[in-house]
Amino acid sequence: MKNLTEGNITDAVLKAIDGTKDARAKEVMSSLIRHLHAFVKDVQLTQDEWEGAIEYLYDTGQITGPTRNEFILTSDTLGISSLVDIINSNPDGGTEASVLGPFYIEGSKMVEIGTNLIGDSEGEPTVVSGIVRTLGGDPIEGAIIDVWQTAANGLYENQDPEQPENNLRCKMLTNKDGYYEFTTIKPVSYKVPTDGPVGRMLDLQGRHAWRPSHLHYKVSADGHRNLITEVFCEEDEYIEEDAVFGVRKSLAVPYKKISSEEEAKKYGISSPFYRVEFDFELETL
Ligand SMILES: [Fe+2]
Repeated sequence: MKNLTEGNITDAVLKAIDGTKDARAKEVMSSLIRHLHAFVKDVQLTQDEWEGAIEYLYDTGQITGPTRNEFILTSDTLGISSLVDIINSNPDGGTEASVLGPFYIEGSKMVEIGTNLIGDSEGEPTVVSGIVRTLGGDPIEGAIIDVWQTAANGLYENQDPEQPENNLRCKMLTNKDGYYEFTTIKPVSYKVPTDGPVGRMLDLQGRHAWRPSHLHYKVSADGHRNLITEVFCEEDEYIEEDAVFGVRKSLAVPYKKISSEEEAKKYGISSPFYRVEFDFELETL
C-alpha cells in the first residue's frame, strides 16, 4: 500500500483520472488538479480556510437562482470572466468582447429601429446608434442587437420589483445599412450586489463594488461569430477601476451632450440629451 504524502498525492490524483476519454477534458482537469494542489501547498491552506471556501461555494449556490448568478459574479470579480474573454475574444480583429454579467435574460422583446425605451424611467435621455459591419466593412442587414442596462437607480429590471418586466432591454434587427438605433436613458455607474458571498469577499479584500456606466450588448448575425460585449461611458469616474475588470479601451466612448431642442424633438425627448455612437465589427465564422 502506497503512503500518500504532500509530495506524491498530486500524482496519485492525476493517475486516478488517467482514464478520462475526452482528451480536452483530461487536459483541463489535469491542469486544474495540478494548479489547485500547488495553490494549497503554496499557502499551506488550513482546515478552517478550506471550510471557509466550502462555505463560500455553498452560500454562492444558495443565493443563485434564475435572476441572479453569484457564481458569475464571483468569476467576474476575480477577473476570470475577463481573462476568458481576452483569451477567446476577436481572434480576427473584430470588436472586443466583454463580460456577459449576471443580469442577461433570454427572450427580450423585439422592437423596431428607433424605439424609445424610456417609458416611465427617470434619467437623462440618450440616443444610441451605430452600424454592424463585417471585418471588410460591409454592413450586415438583419443582425440581432440585444441590449440591456441599468435604470437610474443603478438596478437592472430583474433586480428591482419596482421596474416593469423588460424595462430598458430589447432586441432589434439592423436595417439594410447595418444600422441600429434606440432612445433610452443614460446608464449609470452601479455597485455589483454586495449582500451575498461576493460582498463578503470584496470587504475582505478592501475593494469597492462599483462598475462604470455601460450598455450591455449581444450581437449576432448568420455566418458570424456571436459577440457579447459592453460599451462604456469614457468619462465615468470608475472607468479605470471596474470591479469586474470588463473595461477595454476600444469599448469606451464619449457620451456627447447635445443642447438642441430641435434635435431632441426628432427623438421625442427633451434637451439636453446624450448621443452615443458605437459600431460593431463581427468576425466571419
Ligand atoms: Fe452591467
